[in-house]
Amino acid sequence: MNDPLRRSAASATLALVLCISPAFAGLMRKHKTAPAPPPPATPHASVQLEDKKLNDRIDALLEQMTLTEKIGQLTQYTGGSTITGPTGEKLDFDAMLAKGEIGSLFNVTGAKETNHYQHIAMEGSRLHIPLLFGLDVIHGHRTTFPVPLALAASFDPDVVQQACRVAATEARRDGINWVFSPMVDISRDARWGRIVESAGEDPYLGSAMARAYIRGYQQGDLSKPDSVAASVKHFAAYGAAEAGRDYNTTDMSEIRLRQVYLPPYQAAVDEGAATVMSAFNALNGVPASANAFTLTKILRKEWGFDGLVVSDYGAVGELMKHGIAGDGATAAQKALTAGVDMDMESNLYHSRLPGLVESGQVPTSVVDEAVRRVLRVKFAMGLFEHPYTDENLPPYEPTPEKRELAKKAAEESFVLLKNEAVPGVGRLLPLASDLKSVALIGPLADDADDMLGSWGAQGDARNTNTLRGALADKLGNKLTYVKGTDILSTDTGGFAAAVTAAKNADLVILALGEAGGMTGEATSRAHLSLPGNQEQLMEQVVAAGKPVVLVLFDGRPTAIPWAATHVPAILEAWFPGIEAGPALLSVLTGEVSPSGKLPVEFPYSVGQEPLYLAQLPTGRPAGEADLSQPPTGSEEKYLSRYIDSPNAPIYPFGWGLSYGQFTYTNIKIDHSGGTRKDVGEITVGVDVKNISSVPGAEVAQLYLHNTVASVSQPVRELKGFHRILLQPGQTQHIDFKLHYDDLAFYNADVKHVVEPGTFDVFVGGSSRADKAGSFTVLE
Ligand code: NOJ
Repeated sequence: MNDPLRRSAASATLALVLCISPAFAGLMRKHKTAPAPPPPATPHASVQLEDKKLNDRIDALLEQMTLTEKIGQLTQYTGGSTITGPTGEKLDFDAMLAKGEIGSLFNVTGAKETNHYQHIAMEGSRLHIPLLFGLDVIHGHRTTFPVPLALAASFDPDVVQQACRVAATEARRDGINWVFSPMVDISRDARWGRIVESAGEDPYLGSAMARAYIRGYQQGDLSKPDSVAASVKHFAAYGAAEAGRDYNTTDMSEIRLRQVYLPPYQAAVDEGAATVMSAFNALNGVPASANAFTLTKILRKEWGFDGLVVSDYGAVGELMKHGIAGDGATAAQKALTAGVDMDMESNLYHSRLPGLVESGQVPTSVVDEAVRRVLRVKFAMGLFEHPYTDENLPPYEPTPEKRELAKKAAEESFVLLKNEAVPGVGRLLPLASDLKSVALIGPLADDADDMLGSWGAQGDARNTNTLRGALADKLGNKLTYVKGTDILSTDTGGFAAAVTAAKNADLVILALGEAGGMTGEATSRAHLSLPGNQEQLMEQVVAAGKPVVLVLFDGRPTAIPWAATHVPAILEAWFPGIEAGPALLSVLTGEVSPSGKLPVEFPYSVGQEPLYLAQLPTGRPAGEADLSQPPTGSEEKYLSRYIDSPNAPIYPFGWGLSYGQFTYTNIKIDHSGGTRKDVGEITVGVDVKNISSVPGAEVAQLYLHNTVASVSQPVRELKGFHRILLQPGQTQHIDFKLHYDDLAFYNADVKHVVEPGTFDVFVGGSSRADKAGSFTVLE
C-alpha cells in the first residue's frame, strides 16, 4: 500500500522499474558450490544482453537527475544508535533525503526506523530512488555465530554459507539490505585485532570462505527478498598493517599482493559480490581509498567488477591525513577518480563534488559512472519495487533451528590443540563420565557478553548459553564454579578460592582468554599473552596438582607457551557465539569429536609475528635444526633463526586434534605428462581411515611446494582440503584435484605462469603432513 511506484508521477521512472527483468538479479554474481581455488585473473563473464537492458534503464533514470541528486547517490552517512567510528556533526537526514542528497545510510536498524527514511526517499523526493541500508553484520545479525576466524577454523564453507543465510534473513527483517561483510583481508599478524574478522593467514582457505559468505548473503540472486548485498572488504591488503597496528601502512611487492592478498577479494568478486569497500591503509604509499591501481586497474578492468565501491568510514577525508590531499576537494577528487563510488561518512562528495564538477575539475562522466554503479545495485536488488520492510513481522529471536546451526558451527570451529595423557589418569578429553567433582575456574566461564566477540550487530547476550550454564545442567552439584579473576585485572583476591576449588576437585576446567572487545577494529595488541593476571591464576591452579583442561577464548592466536608445556589439554574455543556453552559441552564430553583446524599459526611469543606457514625459503634455512626449540648454541650460528626463541609456531597452520585417529594411506599422484602451458588435471588420491573407536570429522589437507622456480616459492602452501565424517573403522577415499591455478605463481614480470619443474606434495591432517610424493610439470 505504501508502494510509491503506484502513486508516483514520475512515469519514466515507473516504466523503467517495471521493465526490470528478473535476470538483472543474476548480473553481478555467479553461483558455484564447491570450495574452489582462487580463480584465474580474467574478467568474469557478464550477461551482455541483460547488461544492456539494465544500462538502458539506468541511463533513463540518470538523464532525469540533477547534479545534486547524482552526488546524493554517492553519499552515505551513519545514523541510528550503532556507533562504528568517529561521529561528526548531526545532519538533518530528513531534509537531505527529500532533496535526494543521500544514497545510503548505515547503522540505522529496525523496520520502523529504516522505513522512516525509506518513505522520505521514495515518496518525499523527486525521483523516488530507494536507499541502501548498511550494517556491519559480520558473524550473524541477531543469532550470533562464532567469529569469522573461528568459522574459518571449521574449514567448512557450507556451514559458513548457512550462517550467512540466517544472518541475511534476520538483517532484512531489521531493514538492512547491505552487509559490510565478508572481511577477506589475509591476516598473518596476531597483533592486529581485526584478525578476528578474517579467515586467517591463507589465501586458499580465505578464498573458499569468501565465496561461502557471498553465496550465503546473496544466494546467487540479489532480488530475493531475503538476500542482502555483500561488501567485500577492505580492499586492499589492509591485513598487512605494519607491526600489526590498525590503520597502519602496508608495503609489499606486487607479486606478494597478487599471490597472497588479492585472491580472496577476487574469489568474492567472482562469486558475484555486489559491493566492495576500499580500505583505510596506504598500499605502497598510495592510500587504498585513492588507489587507482587496485580500484580501477585490478578491480574494474582485470576482474570486471561492475558493482559499487564504497569507501571505508571517513576514508575519503583521511586522504588529507595520509598527506596526499591538501584539502577536502582534492581528497574527494582523488577518491572518486581512483574508483570510490560512494563516500562513507566523510561528507566530502556531498560538500565538494558540486564545485569540482562545475569547475570542470571532475568530469560529469566520472560522476555518472559512479552513479550508475550505485543504481545498478539498487535495481538488481529490486529495491525500486520493494523498498520497505514489513513492520508487522514476528520477532526474529534465535529459533531452535538457528541455535542448532550456531551450535554446529561452534563445535566445528573448536580446535583441540593438545590432549596429552596424564600419568595415572590418561587423556583428560573427552571428560570421563565418572568424574565426581569438577571445578570450573576463570573469567570467561560464565561470561555471556564476551562469547559474542566483537561486531555483535544485533546480537544479544541474553541469548547466550555459557559454559557454566551448560556444565551445570550436565553435572549438577558436582560442579563448583569460581571466577578467580576478571579478564583484565591485577587483583589476586579471587585466587585462593580458585586454588581451593581446584584442590577439592577431580578435574579443573580453566576458562581463560581475551574479552570480546579486545579484538576487532582498533584493538591491536603489543603483547599476546593472556591478559591481566590470568597467566598467574593458571599457574597457581595448575600447581594445585589436579588435572587441568584449558578452554581458551580469544579472537586471535594468543601466546601460551607456559600452558602448552604445563597444561595437558587445551581446547581453542575462540568466541563461539550464543551456543558457546552447549557446543563446548558436547565437545568436552565427547558427544562430538573436535574437528577444527587452525586457520592461523599460534606463536610462542609476539616476537615471531608476523607468523605464517607459507614463508619463502631463505638462503640460510635452519635446515635440520629443531625449530621448536631455541638454539642451544652448539649448532651452526649463521642461520635464519632467533637466538632466544623457536622459529616454529607452538601450533602450526592446519593443526587440530580429534578424539578419533586417522591414517592416510595409498596416496597416489596421477599426473600424466602435463606441460607448463597445459597442466591438465593432477589427481592426488588418498584413503583416510578412522582407526579409533569413536566417530569423528577430519579435515584432510593437501599442501604443495614448488621446488625450483624463477621466483622463490613458499615452503608449503595449502592447495586443497576436504572435511569428512568417519565412523570407527571407516575408510573414505578422497581425490584432491589440482589445476593450472594451483601451480601458477607470479613471476618477476608479474605474469601468472606455470614453470616446468617438480612439485612436492604433502597430504595429511595438518600442515606438518609428511611428504606424499611429487610430480613434474614438463616444458
Ligand atoms: C570501519 C570498519 O573498518 C569497517 O569494517 C566497517 O564496515 C565500517 N567502519 C562501517 O561501520
